[in-house]
Parts: sequence; C-alpha cells; structure tokens
Amino acid sequence: MTFNEVRDERIITTSSREEDKDIESGLRPKQLIDYIGQDKAKEKLNIFIEAALKRKEPLDHVLLYGPPGLGKTTLSNIIAQEMNVNIKITSGPAIERPGDLAAILTNLAENDVLFIDEIHRLNRSLEEILYPAMEDFALDIVIGKGASAKSIRLELNKFTLIGATTRAGLLTSPLRDRFGVICKLELYNYKQLGQIIKRSARILDVKIDEDGAKEIALRSRGTPRIANRLLKRVRDFAQVRADGKISKQVACEALNLLEVDPLGLDVVDKNMIETIINNFNGGPVGLDTLSASTGEERTTIEDVYEPYLLQIGFINRTPRGRIVTEKAYKHFNIACRE
Ligand SMILES: Nc1ncnc2c1ncn2[C@@H]1O[C@H](COP(=O)(O)OP(=O)(O)OP(=O)(O)O)[C@@H](O)[C@H]1O
Ligand SMILES: [Mg+2]
Repeated sequence: MTFNEVRDERIITTSSREEDKDIESGLRPKQLIDYIGQDKAKEKLNIFIEAALKRKEPLDHVLLYGPPGLGKTTLSNIIAQEMNVNIKITSGPAIERPGDLAAILTNLAENDVLFIDEIHRLNRSLEEILYPAMEDFALDIVIGKGASAKSIRLELNKFTLIGATTRAGLLTSPLRDRFGVICKLELYNYKQLGQIIKRSARILDVKIDEDGAKEIALRSRGTPRIANRLLKRVRDFAQVRADGKISKQVACEALNLLEVDPLGLDVVDKNMIETIINNFNGGPVGLDTLSASTGEERTTIEDVYEPYLLQIGFINRTPRGRIVTEKAYKHFNIACRE
C-alpha cells in the first residue's frame, strides 16, 4: 500500500468515510442546545438569529471555517431550523455553470438558507454572480452579445448564504468581506467529545460508562466525526468480545487493535513526524519541502495533519517552517537530537 492509500484507509481520517454515512444523519444534533461545544460560535449565532427573527429579516450571511468533521454542515442545518426556514444544500465544485447558480438563487424562498460547502472551490466567474446576490439580493443577467448586449437586473428573495470552508484564507477577499458573520470552529476538547460520545451512545442504544467515553474521546483527535466513528467500531468490538458494554478496558483493547494510539495517532502521523526527524533533523522544514518528501499535498498537511498535531503540541509552526517538539520525540520513543 502506498502512503496515500494508507491515509485514505485511516480510521482516524477527518473526512467523511462510507461507513459514517449510515450513522451520521441520525447522530446530527437538530437544535442549537444539542450542539455541544463551539461556545463562541454558538453565542454569536444565538444573538444574530434572535435579532434577525425579531426584525423578521434573513440572518446575515455566515461563513463557517475549520478543519473537516467539526460540525459545519450540522451547524448550518441547525441555523436554518432555528430560523424556521428551508435550507438548500450544494457545494462549490457541484455548481458548474452560471445558469446552475442562477437557478438555485431564483428558487430560494424569502429568508431561506443557501448552504455552499467547500465554497473556496467555487469558480471565480460564479463568485461574481454571488456578489450582487449577497449584497443587493439581485441577479445581473447579460442578454445578447457584442454591441447589442445589455444587462438586466432580476430581483431575488432575501436569503442567507452560509459558506463552509476548511480555511478562511482560501477565500478571495471580496467574497470573504461579504459575510457579516464569520465563525471559526475549533477542535473539541476531550470533555466535549465525551459528551458527544455519550449522546451518540444513547441514540445508538449502546451502554457506555464515563471512563469508556473518556477513552474514546482522548483518541478522537478533537473531532466529533472521528468520535462517532470510533464509538461505532468499539461497539462492534464490545458486542463480540465483551458483554456489549463499553468500559475503559474494552475501549482501550478495541482501539489498540485498530492501531489508534492513546493520543489518537496512527502510523501516518508517526510517518510524518519521523520524516521531519530523519530527513530534516527535526526541522524546521518548509511546507512545500515536507509535501514533496512525503508525497502529501500541501493542503492535506495543513488541513488534516497539522491542526491536531499542533493542538497536542507535537509540532510547532515557526516562520522558518515546522519543528518537531520534544513531546513528540518522547511519545514515539525516539532519541532527541543533540
Ligand atoms: N457540536 C456537535 N455536537 C454533537 N455532534 C456533532 C457536533 N458537531 C459535529 N457533530 C457530529 O459530527 C458529524 C460530522 O459533522 P459535520 O458533517 O457537520 O462536519 P463538517 O464540519 O461539515 O465536515 P466536512 O468539513 O467534512 O464537511 C455529524 O454527523 C455530527 O453527528
Ligand atoms: Mg460538511
């Protein structure tokens, strides 16, 4: 298996896997009060939603950004629900032609939510259509060609655009500037993940104790999607090897078997750290150099590996590049360089 294949097969990948699909929709919280963590984003949204409802106006356009699996899609659905409006879901790469976007926009009812996932991948020419739509709720259509071409303006219903992206910096600044509410989603701490796991276990009708939930939480890399996936795998293990109940010991055994270590790291993380240590003397190493020597895309390193490795303090980001910390050497039991 190549390095890339290993990565795609990772049980702790943050992106959605086939196996997540059947459980994710049932586990998605439907209301803001059930949405655990992200207190800053929730507080902001609560205020704006209440104000918009009072004024009977649509919510201002919202940009949600943060690593995959932290709950951007979930939060968008909740926002629509709290605003009592419909949500139309699409994604940047799915909209191909100007006509597609125009059709979506003209079909929105008053105050509806339009959710565009991976909005940074929206074609630049389509972005230009969005500007007047976001600002004036209008669509400028050019009719005819050459000298006889003229532009007519079509009024749209007022709507809320919710854009999701892994990093706000991926957006062009004119697009970013048109969002009135910008929320950064953070990695969750293990206590919040523990709550999410217990809630999911209740819904899935799985017995789990406090320490069992904590053990899974500690290995979930700050990410609810991973937490739910690991819970599902540990449940299977518990049914076959134990009495179906998830204790700390059952969780440890199951996750060790899956080669997810006590910090949620796997062989791919180890590889990345070892590459920096062995090939670059522990760093600093620039992102492009690291990308070339691991065969990983720059964005994958930035969006998928780094957020968690930074959070647990295994790498530091310096102006000259990435450095492996002593903590990582210790964890992987590697002798520190002199
Ligand atoms: N705050 C939360 N509380 C409880 N469960 C959550 C929360 N956030 C996310 N989840 C769970 O995690 C799963 C993944 O969340 P979601 O699909 O919203 O992530 P995402 O940020 O949209 O990911 P992507 O970037 O891949 O689109 C959901 O099925 C949901 O059950
Ligand atoms: Mg999503």
